[in-house]
Amino acid sequence: MQVIGFDVFATLVDPAGIADPLRPFAGERTDELVGEWRRSQLEYAFRCAAMGQYRPFDRVTRAALDRALALTGIDIPDSGREDLVAAWTRLPAFSDAAPALAALRARGHRCLAFSNGTEKSLEALLDHAGLAAHLDDVLSVETVGTYKPAPAVYEHLLNAGGGERGATWLVSGNAWDVIGAGAAGLATAWLQRDEGKPFDPWDYTPDRIVPGLHRLPEVPPFDGA
Ligand code: LAC
Repeated sequence: MQVIGFDVFATLVDPAGIADPLRPFAGERTDELVGEWRRSQLEYAFRCAAMGQYRPFDRVTRAALDRALALTGIDIPDSGREDLVAAWTRLPAFSDAAPALAALRARGHRCLAFSNGTEKSLEALLDHAGLAAHLDDVLSVETVGTYKPAPAVYEHLLNAGGGERGATWLVSGNAWDVIGAGAAGLATAWLQRDEGKPFDPWDYTPDRIVPGLHRLPEVPPFDGA
C-alpha cells in the first residue's frame, strides 16, 4: 500500500475556473487579473511560511485579491471581493481526478487531499467538486500552522498518512510543491499537465512524471497493491 497525498489546487481541482466569477468585473482583462491574483496568493503564503506567521489561506487569498486589484486598477466592491474568495470553494475538479482516485483506492492505496487551503474550505470545495467520497482523508496545513513548502507540512503528511517515508507520496502539478516534498524525503510524482512547461531548474528530479492523473494507476508502484 502506498500513501498518496494529492495537492488540491492545480492537481485535483482546476484553479483556472476562478476566471468565470471574475469575468463580469474584469472582462477582457480577466486572464491578467487571474495571473496577478494567483501570483500574489502564492507569494503571500510563501511569505507567511518564511516569517513564521501563519494566517488562514482565505485571508491570504483575500489580501492577494486586494493587491491584484490595486495593481491592475480594476475595481470590485467589498461584498464582491468576499464572494470571489468564496468562489475558491466552487472550483471544478479536473475530469481525470475522480477516476484516478477510484482506481488507486481499488488497488488498495490510501488517497489523501493535502493542501494549503483551510480545513473548512477544503471540505466545501472537495464536496462541491464531487471528490470527497473518493478520498480517505483531507489534510490541511492549517493543522501545522505554516505553508508548503515548509518541511513541517510534509512531515504532517508523513505522520498523518501513517505510511513509511519511502511509500508516502506527494502528487502535485506544482513543481515547487514536488521539490519541497522531495527535500523532506518523501517520494514524489509531478503532474505535467502542460507538456510545454518544463520542470523547475532545480537540483532535483521527481520520482515519477505523468501527463495526467489517469496515468498514475498504471505506473509502478501504483499499479499494484
Ligand atoms: C495547494 C496549492 C498549493 O493545494 O496548490 O496546496
